[in-house]
Amino acid sequence: MRTLIYFANAPCVRSEPVRSPARTGRRYSHCRSWPVSEPRAATRQVGQSGLAIPRVALGCGNFGGIGSAPEFFGQGLSTDQALELMDAAWALGVSHFDTADAYGGGRSEHAIGRWIKSRGVRPQLTTKTFNPMTPGADHGLRPDRIARQLQASLERLGVDQVDLYLAHDYDPDVPIAETFGAFEAAVAGGSIRAYGVSNFGAGQLAAALDAGSPLAIQDSYSLLDRTDEREVLPLCERRGVAYLAFSPLAGGWLTGKYRRGEPFPAGSRMTQRPEPYRGLLTEQTFAALARLEAMAANRGISMAGLALGWLLADDRVTQIVIGPGRPEHLRPVAEAIDHPVTAAEKAEIEGIFT
Ligand SMILES: NC(=O)c1ccc[n+]([C@@H]2O[C@H](COP(=O)([O-])OP(=O)(O)OC[C@H]3O[C@@H](n4cnc5c(N)ncnc54)[C@H](OP(=O)(O)O)[C@@H]3O)[C@@H](O)[C@H]2O)c1
Repeated sequence: MRTLIYFANAPCVRSEPVRSPARTGRRYSHCRSWPVSEPRAATRQVGQSGLAIPRVALGCGNFGGIGSAPEFFGQGLSTDQALELMDAAWALGVSHFDTADAYGGGRSEHAIGRWIKSRGVRPQLTTKTFNPMTPGADHGLRPDRIARQLQASLERLGVDQVDLYLAHDYDPDVPIAETFGAFEAAVAGGSIRAYGVSNFGAGQLAAALDAGSPLAIQDSYSLLDRTDEREVLPLCERRGVAYLAFSPLAGGWLTGKYRRGEPFPAGSRMTQRPEPYRGLLTEQTFAALARLEAMAANRGISMAGLALGWLLADDRVTQIVIGPGRPEHLRPVAEAIDHPVTAAEKAEIEGIFT
């Protein structure tokens, strides 16, 4: 079974500590030939771009910080932890990495660049721009800023092209057509393959589609955040926009790690950056999670595996962007792929989270 293949056959991940080529003076060679990442799930097309992306991407928002929040720059996963996580994801067959210029103030892209260079392999890459790189630095989607930020991202990543480039947020101060002009220039120049948006509402996405050709949107979507079902997902379906779901486990809530009446586990996201999830602290949430946990147990998988499986069972969801904090957190991905959720199970799960 492929899950066992990964967990039993990861010598490249665990046999030796990861060393920087600068320190060793040579390419990583503890793994004689770095294994080719074998896709675990089918790929999906991104519009008419010719780009096909896998259904699961490794989110690198925890590398060197917690997302783009400047107060956490330098925290999150260390470079060595990030390298280990990328090794484990690659070994599992996850071959698309998601980052942003401002994640960890540039540390996330740096870590990915170091991994690519040292392993001699090339995952598909999504990166984004909008947020400031340091407290008080500029932000937004002005064309000159985009050109500068994209160049800096390419340098940190050590590549000459990223597959998908996203506006990380909506910028009310810059006409979206101007932003897309910069993105189109980058496509024409070969530094990106396709572009899209993130954190746009349905009205903003509709306006964006009138102004250019965004081929993808990345938004929060999980059993505990189904806002996009009302307008964004139907719009994507109508207009052929690839839908990429971030925070598929609602920041860890869908793993069952937060228990009714118990303190949050030390070091967990709720102890670090609880604000986005405070609304989940309700009796209704805990009751729904208990039912999901029971259903997962009946199927012999984890609650997280079932929650990811629910997303993968939705044809409108092009890709899920997972956020594991350590290699063991990848196990639910394997469960979700190896135990597909049926249409009847999907309906049952949705009945729990109405
Ligand atoms: N476009 C955007 O604006 C945007 C916004 C957010 C995220 N993203 C992207 O989406 C990625 C994923 O987002 P996310 O981190 O919010 O995803 P998530 O999977 O919903 O949450 C990740 C958190 O859940 C916990 N977790 C994950 N797997 C676990 C497991 N198997 N067992 C126990 N705990 C587990 C970890 O929390 P602990 O830290 O508590 O261990 C981890 O930090 C990011 O890395 C980033 O690439 C994009």
